[in-house]
Amino acid sequence: MCGIVGYIGKAQAFPVLIKGLHRLEYRGYDSAGVALINDRGSLNIYKAKGKVEELELAVEEQDITGSVGIAHTRWATHGEPSTRNAHPHCSRSERLALVHNGIIENYESLRKELILKGYGFRSDTDTEVLVQLIDDVLTSTGTDLFAAVRTALQRVTGAYAIAVIDKQNPKQIVAARKGSPLVVGISNDALYLASDATPIAEYTSDIIYLDNEQVALLEEGQQPIVSTLKGEQVTYTIRHTDIAVGQLEKNGFEHYMLKEIFEQPDTLQQAMQGCMSAAGDIQMPDWDRCKQRFLNADRILLTACGTSWHAALIAKYAIEQFAHIPCEVEYASEFRYRQPVIKDRDVMIAISQSGETADTLAAIELAKQNGAFIYSICNVQGSSIPRLSDACCYTHIGPEIGVASTKAFTAQVLVLNMLALAIGKENGHLSLKQYTSLTNEMRRLPQYITTILLQNERIAKAARTLTFAADALYLGRGFLYPIALEGALKLKEISYIHAEGYPAAEMKHGPIALVSHDLPVVVVAPKDSLYDKMVSNIREITARHGRVIAVVTEGDTQVRDISELTMTVPPTADCWYPILTIIPLQLLAYHVAVAKDCNVDQPRNLAKSVTVE
Ligand code: F6R
Repeated sequence: MCGIVGYIGKAQAFPVLIKGLHRLEYRGYDSAGVALINDRGSLNIYKAKGKVEELELAVEEQDITGSVGIAHTRWATHGEPSTRNAHPHCSRSERLALVHNGIIENYESLRKELILKGYGFRSDTDTEVLVQLIDDVLTSTGTDLFAAVRTALQRVTGAYAIAVIDKQNPKQIVAARKGSPLVVGISNDALYLASDATPIAEYTSDIIYLDNEQVALLEEGQQPIVSTLKGEQVTYTIRHTDIAVGQLEKNGFEHYMLKEIFEQPDTLQQAMQGCMSAAGDIQMPDWDRCKQRFLNADRILLTACGTSWHAALIAKYAIEQFAHIPCEVEYASEFRYRQPVIKDRDVMIAISQSGETADTLAAIELAKQNGAFIYSICNVQGSSIPRLSDACCYTHIGPEIGVASTKAFTAQVLVLNMLALAIGKENGHLSLKQYTSLTNEMRRLPQYITTILLQNERIAKAARTLTFAADALYLGRGFLYPIALEGALKLKEISYIHAEGYPAAEMKHGPIALVSHDLPVVVVAPKDSLYDKMVSNIREITARHGRVIAVVTEGDTQVRDISELTMTVPPTADCWYPILTIIPLQLLAYHVAVAKDCNVDQPRNLAKSVTVE
C-alpha cells in the first residue's frame, strides 16, 4: 500500500515520477505528491488530495524542473486522506523531504521526544516523525544523510519503505526498507527507485530487490551502495525483470479489470506451461526440492488473504480428494496471532498474487520458525514471499493491475489443482487413469474460457437489472462453495453492493430468512457431482420467490427454467469447474459496477498490495 517512486539522473525527474505514480496508483489513490530539487538547489514539494491526475493539475504553472526527485501515492493509515497528510513530508529545517510506505509503530513516543526538542508537526501521519528524526540526527551529529538515515531507523519499530532527499546534498537519494517492498533500477544514465518493478520496467530491466533493514545510497553517476542499518556494506545481486511495457497498458479495453478477465485463456496457458515438463506432464517448479516434504507431510496448511484465500479453500478440496493429505485453510491474519500447533512435518502453502501481503508474510515467518516447509504460489517475481519461502511456483500471468483480482485467481486455482494431482499421482492415491483424464481435461480449459467470454455482451445487458439491488446472495457447494465466496467478493468490492457467499445447504440454517422477491440469489450450479442437491437448494429459493441468477452447464434446462438469467460454461470435471464458473461471475460484477458508474480499477478504500497488517 502506498507507492513510492524516485529518480536521479541526467533527464528531468518529473515526467518519470508522474508516469511511475500512475503505474503504482493501484497501491493507493487517496493523495499524491512529489518533491524535486531544481538546478538552483531549491526543494519544491507539491501535493494534492485524490488521484495522481489531481497532482498533475496542481503543478500546472509550478516549477517542476530538477533531475532528482521522489514521489508518492498514498493509501491512508494514520491521518485522513488530505493534502496536509499527503507525502512527501518536509523536515523542520526544510532541507529534507521524505516519502514512506508502511506504519511506524512507535511514532507516538518519538513524536513526544521530538516535540520536547522543539519540533512542530504539520500532519497527523506517523511518517512525519521519520523526517524530523532524520533531521534531528543530521543537525545534532553533523553526519551525512546516508548515516543519518541508518541511525534514525535504528530507533524505529514498524514497517517502512522510505526515500529521502536533501537539498544540501542534491545529487543523492537515500532509501531503506523493512517490511514494505522497495526496488532500485539501474540504467546507463540514471538510477530509479520504486515500490515494485513496474514503473522502472520501461527504462531498465536491471533491478536490485532491497532486503529488510537495508539502506541504499543512490548517487548520480555512481553504482548504488547498499548497507545494513549498522553500516556494513552489502553485496547485492542485479536481477532482470521480464515485465514488458505492453503488459502495463489497457490495450484498447476500457478497464484493466476487463482486459485481465479477457486475458485468461492466455494466462491460464502460461500458468499451466510453468508447471509442465518438456514432455507435457505436470512438473511443479522446485519439485525436486519439495517432493519428499509433500510426500511425508502429516498435514498441509494453506494460508492467504482475500481472493487468494478462496483459491486456498479450493486447494483443500483438491488436495484432500486427490492426495489424501489433511489440509487446513488459514486466514494469514488470524493464524499469525493465534498459537497454532505447527510441526516440522507440516508443509505450508502460502498463496499471494503480489508476494507482499504483510499478514501472509508474517504467517510464513511463524510457520518457518516452527520448522514447517514453505511452498509459495506467487505472481510477482522477486517479491518478498517467494524470497522467504523454501520453494516457489510462479503463476507467470504478467502484472495484474485491476485492484479486483481475476486472472491471478484462476491461475492460482489451476496450479494448486496441478500440485494436488502431482502429489496424488506420486503417492498413489490417484490412479493413472484418473490422473490422465483430469490432465487431458485441464488442457482444454483455455479454449473453454474463450467460449465463456463470448457471453460478455449478454451479461453486460443482464447486469443492468442488478444495479438497484442492495444485497445479493451467492450459493455453491463442494468445489464451488469458494466460488460463491469469490463471486460475492467481486461484486461487493467493485460495485459496493452487499453480497454474501454461502454453502447452498447452509441456507436453511438462517440466511434463507433473507430471501424475498427482490433479493438476487446467484447460484453456481453446473452439472457436477452435487448437481441434484444443488437443484433442491435452488428450488427452496424459488419457492420463496427469490430472483435466481445461475451459472449452469451448457444444455442445462432444469435450472434454466427456474432462473431469471443463466450464464453457461462447458461441461468439465468437478475440480475444473471453479476456473470456468468464476469467469461469468467476474463479468457480472464488472458490468454491474460499470452500470453503477463505479471506479472499477480503483474501488474506494482499497489498494492492490496490502503491505500493512
Ligand atoms: C480481491 C483481492 C484481494 C487480494 C488480497 C491478497 O479482489 O485482490 O482480496 O486477494 O489482498 O492479496 P495477495 O494475493 O497479493 O496476497
